[in-house]
Amino acid sequence: MIRLAVLVSGRGSNLEAILKEAAAGGLNAQPVLVLSDNPQAPALRLARAYRVPVLGVSPREVGGREPFFRLVEEKLVEARVDLVALAGFMRILPAWLVERFRWRILNIHPSLLPAFPGLDAPRQALEYGVRVSGCTVHFVDEGVDTGPIVLQAAVPVLPDDTPETLAARIRQEEHRIYPEAIRLFAEGRLVIDGRRVIIREAE
Ligand code: GRF
Repeated sequence: MIRLAVLVSGRGSNLEAILKEAAAGGLNAQPVLVLSDNPQAPALRLARAYRVPVLGVSPREVGGREPFFRLVEEKLVEARVDLVALAGFMRILPAWLVERFRWRILNIHPSLLPAFPGLDAPRQALEYGVRVSGCTVHFVDEGVDTGPIVLQAAVPVLPDDTPETLAARIRQEEHRIYPEAIRLFAEGRLVIDGRRVIIREAE
């Protein structure tokens, strides 16, 4: 079993998919900490319901971005975390934290990267006029949504889509591939080779 932390800012539907799968024994990972930069995040309530230790603290409360991320580092180390999953965490990690947990941080993004990185990806996809979008689980590097890709899933863009309906369709796939990617990591099956992630066969 690896020890998993999840960083969240909002709703927490990906967190829920992860906690559900972990509780069902399908992840090979034990959620040991859910941390939020928003003490009011609904995701924290969810984590408590699953009896996972939580910490909700805003950067403002602790004197800004740098002290906030120092605190995050301290809590991750204290909880002896093997993997950090960003699940709707709305802040960019400082480079030193990425380095500290090199290739041990995953993120989920609601587009088929490298298309539409950054904020509001479903809206960007609609405005661009693509026929297919989707989601991407990737390792976090120093860029924004640029790290090596673990899994992707595609969904159609429909004529009547709004950013909300497209995001909801994408989210269904997120809830499938994020737990799957965490399981692959937990089983030691992800090998990074430059920009590519090789998925080894199960033993
Ligand atoms: C998801 O769309 C994810 O791709 C993006 O933020 C959203 C989080 O949603 N990074 P939720 O909080 O997991 O419901």
